[in-house]
Amino acid sequence: MIITGKYPNLRLRRNRKSDWIRRLTQENNFSADDLILPIFLVDGKNKKIQIKTMPDVYRFTVDKLTSIVDEAINNKIPMIALFPYTNPKLKDNTGSESLNENNLVCKALRYIKKRYKNEIGLMSDVALDPYTSHGHDGLLKKGKILNDETVDLLVKQSLLQAEMGCDVIAPSDMMDGRIGKIRKALDKNNLENVQILSYAVKYASNFYGPFRDAVGAKNILKGDKKTYQMDFRNREEALREVSLDIKEGADMIIVKPGLPYLDVIKEVKDNFKIPVIAYQVSGEYSIILTGIKNKIINENTILETLISFKRAGANAIITYFANKIAKNLKK
Ligand code: PBG
Repeated sequence: MIITGKYPNLRLRRNRKSDWIRRLTQENNFSADDLILPIFLVDGKNKKIQIKTMPDVYRFTVDKLTSIVDEAINNKIPMIALFPYTNPKLKDNTGSESLNENNLVCKALRYIKKRYKNEIGLMSDVALDPYTSHGHDGLLKKGKILNDETVDLLVKQSLLQAEMGCDVIAPSDMMDGRIGKIRKALDKNNLENVQILSYAVKYASNFYGPFRDAVGAKNILKGDKKTYQMDFRNREEALREVSLDIKEGADMIIVKPGLPYLDVIKEVKDNFKIPVIAYQVSGEYSIILTGIKNKIINENTILETLISFKRAGANAIITYFANKIAKNLKK
């Protein structure tokens, strides 16, 4: 880079002297178009249940979804992501509830698609962890997570969700080879327009705690997810994961968690010209919001974190702050 000039001729503070010049020279900005809102689902009627570890986040019964979906649409948020809290009685060793066409996600997909048509995009996770009695994303046998047997189930789960009206299938399981198999099955079943948003770069992170609480997988998880989710010491491996998923047919990819992995977002974006979505995960959300509620930091912190994802190269952000921030942007 060539620096054309030096102090005192050059004073970088001149371009920061007023709000108007800061606005004029800003390199990144943020709008509601950059947001994806996660929504948690629960069985029952007419209920909205506060999640203990996630301030201001609720589990909704399907009949109550209109309140939050209307809000997202009014706020011009392009897509929502659905996550189920499965009744513990329905969980088993193989996560069979994931293939029940009347499970929570399927019911919600049908309900929202029928009511809202194409007004908002629908994304749903493909993985077994909300449905298994051991809390893992895959089939567990003799202490090991089986890869190919899990992929067979994920393909079925993807087809089911796509048939129920899901627009964007998001495999979050980190099994090898699942993107290619899912793409092939979708195409074979006339579902070639259903997109795949791959959680290509998903770290075995300590920041997922509140989410596991939200989907009821926290206290039942046996061991950890380190044999399939990535080691947080690694960066190059992220590029290998992304390149494989692109070859297998991913339309977009996720880097997850968010803030501790800005370097990875930038590296992926610099190397692959594909939409990159950052996931600001539950632990990040709860820490920031608790800080705000306790007046340790102020509310602008949220925007600062979201802009940092854009600066690193993300096209959009999955965040539990989506409605809150989109509402503020309208003002
Ligand atoms: C499940 C899944 C997880 C998250 C999204 N999908 C948790 C996990 O892998 O244990 C985490 C999201 C969050 O923490 O906000 N496959």
